[in-house]
Amino acid sequence: MTTGRHRWGPWRTLGAAIVVAGTAMAAHADMQLASDKGCYNCHGTPPRKRAPTFAQLAADYARYRGDDGAVRQLADKLRSGSIFGHIDAHERLSAADAERLVRWIVDGAPPS
Ligand code: HEC
Repeated sequence: MTTGRHRWGPWRTLGAAIVVAGTAMAAHADMQLASDKGCYNCHGTPPRKRAPTFAQLAADYARYRGDDGAVRQLADKLRSGSIFGHIDAHERLSAADAERLVRWIVDGAPPS
């Protein structure tokens, strides 16, 4: 019964390829969401007002990678707005969108 292992070889490779493609597509969807929500208006390059660029935020947030609790807290903090003065684009986010965008930044949002 040595053939069992071999049979799965190609499928495992294909599976990995699908996972990689899926991740790239998800990152693209998140970028689209950030763009739809107007995030790039202030966090793009060059940034507006006192806003950090997404590249700066991503560098800063990289330390939270893999920490779901921190991602949720940052998302809540962003939506509550009180700490940053009032930025509509932050406060209008749903809990789910805020978490998704913060996770995207934590995972290294591509600059644009
Ligand atoms: C009107 C301009 C503006 C828009 C639009 C905007 N931001 Fe911001 N954002 C800012 C500014 C200014 C800061 C920095 C506030 C400070 O540090 O006091 C900030 C800070 C942040 C931070 C850092 C918070 C922290 O922990 O320090 C994150 C994350 C963020 N924005 C995400 C977003 C996302 C996601 C969007 C889109 C939904 C968005 N922003 C849209 C102006 C904006």
